[in-house]
Amino acid sequence: MELIQPIFVNQSGETYEAGLGPDNSSYSLKDINNKIQQDINEGGESFLLFVVPNKKTKNPDWKFNGEVVSQIKSKFGSKVELFTDICLCSTMTDGHCCVLDNPKKTEELLQNLASVYYKAGADSLAPSDMQPNTVKNIKQEFPKAHVTSYSTKFRSSFYKGFRQIADSSPSSKRFYQLDVSNAGAAIQSSIKYDKDGADFLMVKPAMTSLDLIDKIKMATHKPVGAFQVSGEYLGLADDDQLLETYKVMKRAEIDFLISYGARKLLKLL
Ligand code: PBG
Ligand code: ZN
Repeated sequence: MELIQPIFVNQSGETYEAGLGPDNSSYSLKDINNKIQQDINEGGESFLLFVVPNKKTKNPDWKFNGEVVSQIKSKFGSKVELFTDICLCSTMTDGHCCVLDNPKKTEELLQNLASVYYKAGADSLAPSDMQPNTVKNIKQEFPKAHVTSYSTKFRSSFYKGFRQIADSSPSSKRFYQLDVSNAGAAIQSSIKYDKDGADFLMVKPAMTSLDLIDKIKMATHKPVGAFQVSGEYLGLADDDQLLETYKVMKRAEIDFLISYGARKLLKLL
């Protein structure tokens, strides 16, 4: 099972701890290279990048986002497999993953970000926005781009730590995310993004979605991973508990795991 470590890069020039523990700080552009080099030395190679911009704006140019990916890929090349999270919630003042009541603008901004990341050399584009056309639009303009879709993403109270470190408002009710009570809609959502051309699919949160893995795999025949999200990770008391959750997810036959504990797991396994 492939292990993917989330990394946060902020625009302030400082590296700081932001609620997910010292092992998951928010890094400056300067410091992230050292952290990645250290991870490579310890056997890591896959990362999911979140960029935290200085300013909230309705008209982001995504320039800093492009710089982060270019810097990492030009320094590490194929030693690093870089997944890039694609969403609007870290730039929107209301913390939403879309521009409310403006699907056209939403699609334009998401597509611009995807284009910036793709051209800067990202290995996989990972839209987490849960809007209807993001995967389809990316595959249409960039047929060769690898897309990891957050294809079954629930509305969840387990995302709170993330919203702090990503500086995205915790209060907004994300109606476009799925209801945990509805298994049918959850499976249909992954089938939809599969049909739109996603290469990898994902359930999120991990532990509350394990019953869906096999069903999604049977329906799509694509690799299906899980994202062990901030609240799940913060709830773990020690390494033994982290390892136990890993074993359970492996038992559920996920193909990859995104976890804040990924670099720790590499040492424990
Ligand atoms: C942004 C995004 C979120 C997470 C990953 N990408 C937050 C959200 O959807 O509210 C959650 C990650 C976590 O909690 O660790 N769309
Ligand atoms: Zn979002």
